[in-house]
Amino acid sequence: MEQSRLPIGIFDSGVGGLTVLHAVNDLLPDEQLLYLGDTARLPYGTKSPASVQRYATHAADYLVGQGIKLLVIACNTASALALDELRHRLAPIPVIGVVEPGATAAVNRSSAHRHLVLATESTTSQLAYTRAILRLDPDAIIEELPCSLFVALAEEGWNTGSIAEAVAGQYLDSIRERSRAERPDVAILGCTHFPLLQGAISNALGPGIEIVDSATTTARAVWQELAASNLAAPDDANGGIRLIATDGAARFARIGSAFLGRKFAAEDIELTDIHPADKGN
Ligand code: DGL
Repeated sequence: MEQSRLPIGIFDSGVGGLTVLHAVNDLLPDEQLLYLGDTARLPYGTKSPASVQRYATHAADYLVGQGIKLLVIACNTASALALDELRHRLAPIPVIGVVEPGATAAVNRSSAHRHLVLATESTTSQLAYTRAILRLDPDAIIEELPCSLFVALAEEGWNTGSIAEAVAGQYLDSIRERSRAERPDVAILGCTHFPLLQGAISNALGPGIEIVDSATTTARAVWQELAASNLAAPDDANGGIRLIATDGAARFARIGSAFLGRKFAAEDIELTDIHPADKGN
């Protein structure tokens, strides 16, 4: 088959990357999208770098084995820890992570050059956003704050209400209490799960802080890469979405529908093992 007719592979540790899938599908409706949620090993955000790199390699190898023309790492933790390794491993297949597009979105929106990155502990420990933002704006002041509990809230569907507000307050009250000059003017949702909690996060941060995420800018990066590599689907191609998970189809459908912005059922998901060594584990 012609390369350009192959699907785009997208993976995340679970359902969070469906926000990226949604944005890619909106911008590029003629593309076939193959999504893998590694739900058997979620969360990645509290695991060691070595484990996340191993999981990300298994997910990428699985998608390459299915036949893809481009890979999107729709997980901030895996992007922060495994992007370089996967680019090297998959070459010449292009690999796009979500950290650089997220940093681009933040720099485009900030006028005070003060950035707050909200992400998982594994992501913040790597300072990948700090490096990406400084490459674009050497004058930027960046603070990275781990907020791992937001992942569990989003997975539970507790995106709004008193518990979400209380947890957001616990993480972010100290930012809101600062003087205006010391507050960031942009907050980056550096985790695929966090867009669902945007309301609670915004309330906790207070006014004057713009919230950005990487979904739309990642979709744009995919579009640019397809054009640059002559890999865009031909005019007669039909777009579509195929969903694969490594565990829990019913839960994936129940929670994932909110992330994708459209309802889907357990029957729409294929379950798979993504590494022979993991079978039976
Ligand atoms: N997908 C992860 C991320 O964007 C969040 C969920 C997890 O910890 O696995 O960082």
